[in-house]
Amino acid sequence: MKYVDWTRMEDGTAKEFELIMQLEKKINADLVDRVLDHLKLLDVDWGGYRINRYQHSLQTATRAYRDEADDETIVAALLHDIGDSVSPYNHGELAAAILKPYVSERVHWIVTNHATFQGYYYNHHLGGDRFARDRFKEHPWYEDCVYFCHHYDQNSFDPDYATKPLEFFEPYVRRVFGGKMKHLELNLAAES
Ligand SMILES: [Fe+2]
Ligand SMILES: [Fe+2]
Repeated sequence: MKYVDWTRMEDGTAKEFELIMQLEKKINADLVDRVLDHLKLLDVDWGGYRINRYQHSLQTATRAYRDEADDETIVAALLHDIGDSVSPYNHGELAAAILKPYVSERVHWIVTNHATFQGYYYNHHLGGDRFARDRFKEHPWYEDCVYFCHHYDQNSFDPDYATKPLEFFEPYVRRVFGGKMKHLELNLAAES
């Protein structure tokens, strides 16, 4: 292993930062494996729901696949709740951040906001506003997020549904994460 000499970034040289970027590239080659390992952290039973969050994620992706959604949407469906393990109250933002370099702004927006749209199905039972999603009513992707939640997410808690395994979706994730990055401002470090 090679290491730089400095302990403070301000003392680094261009050569050293090139080395850092090369090593970062190597590490990032395993990114998909790490993301999928993280998804598997949801494979625990925390009660209540009849299937756990991991099975729910697979089922959401399966429904997107059977609906002939594009690859980005299938991968977004698979990963949309990945933040539930460490960021339960804003888990959509966490999943969206992971996906951001690789998906369209539309899919990023859907994942970011899906929890607000999911609230349509339960907020009113808990004293909240099921129409919280209406603040996005004029947004061009409002209907797309309604569709995602209604057809893929809110209905994916069924223990009897023929859900596909993670291995089925792995090539989709590799394809989407291996494609051209769409948010170039995040791309500088990865490509230098
Ligand atoms: Fe969610
Ligand atoms: Fe979900």
